[in-house]
Amino acid sequence: MASNDSLGNTLKVVLGVSLVCSIIVSVAAVGLRDIQQRNIVEDVQRNILAVSGVELDGRSVGDVYEEVIEPRLVDLNTGEFVDASAEEIAAFDQRAAAKEPETSIRLTSEQDVAGIVRRANVAKVYFVRGESGDFERVILPIHGYGLWSTMYAFLAVQPDGQTIDAIVYYDQGETPGLGGEVANPLWQAKFVGKQLFDEQGNPAITVAKGSADPNSIHEVDGLSGSTLTSNGVTNTFDFWLSDNGFGKFLGRIQDGGLI
Ligand SMILES: Cc1cc2nc3c(=O)[nH]c(=O)nc-3n(C[C@H](O)[C@H](O)[C@H](O)COP(=O)(O)O)c2cc1C
Repeated sequence: MASNDSLGNTLKVVLGVSLVCSIIVSVAAVGLRDIQQRNIVEDVQRNILAVSGVELDGRSVGDVYEEVIEPRLVDLNTGEFVDASAEEIAAFDQRAAAKEPETSIRLTSEQDVAGIVRRANVAKVYFVRGESGDFERVILPIHGYGLWSTMYAFLAVQPDGQTIDAIVYYDQGETPGLGGEVANPLWQAKFVGKQLFDEQGNPAITVAKGSADPNSIHEVDGLSGSTLTSNGVTNTFDFWLSDNGFGKFLGRIQDGGLI
């Protein structure tokens, strides 16, 4: 009679355990895919609501988002809205579009002040509607390179197309405690009320080295010991406020031509 600890039996047990484990992992991966996808969508919605000025008041992120946020697509070359259905707008992925030659441009080194290499032709922006249906804020996705990473933010601007209402850095890989302080709400609060453009209409937001001039309407305190990340934030604004970014779109908002 064959012994239980023969090579054949050992192999059978090993293969059996491996098979059972791979079935469990595959079923879990497939079963959790929808939940993961929903969580990704909800995370984006939560970050957008964080700069919307709207409180959740015990309601779900999805419900409040549906109620107050109106996403639109903008052609960055003209600053005009793109004609698109709600489904097309919801499905549009700006990060994916920025990777494809058909849906993006490669920036020249002179244009690429924010170190992003490619820029999508179309951007997704988010209008915040008040109770009366008026537009209260427009939220713009911006990103640029810091010291170690591309730093992604949502910037909320008043209907004057000029005054910052809020900013949230929600995805970045700078050093925790140094450049990672871009994600600190106390530092982000220093942007509130700052003016995007100077009197000549040029991008004007600057992160200072050290403390900002208290009388400046454009300058924000630097992140201590993190001049390179701070410069990355200034460069991000320089790019996205220029005509290669949201410059034309914000110009239309300032002229009252879009809303
Ligand atoms: C381990 C390590 C991590 C660092 N991380 C950052 C960072 O995330 N952002 C940054 O701007 N500088 C970072 N620095 C500092 C930069 O190398 C550089 O010294 C600094 O940006 C200069 O800023 P300061 O003139 O304000 O000191 C780091 C330095 C070390 C040693």
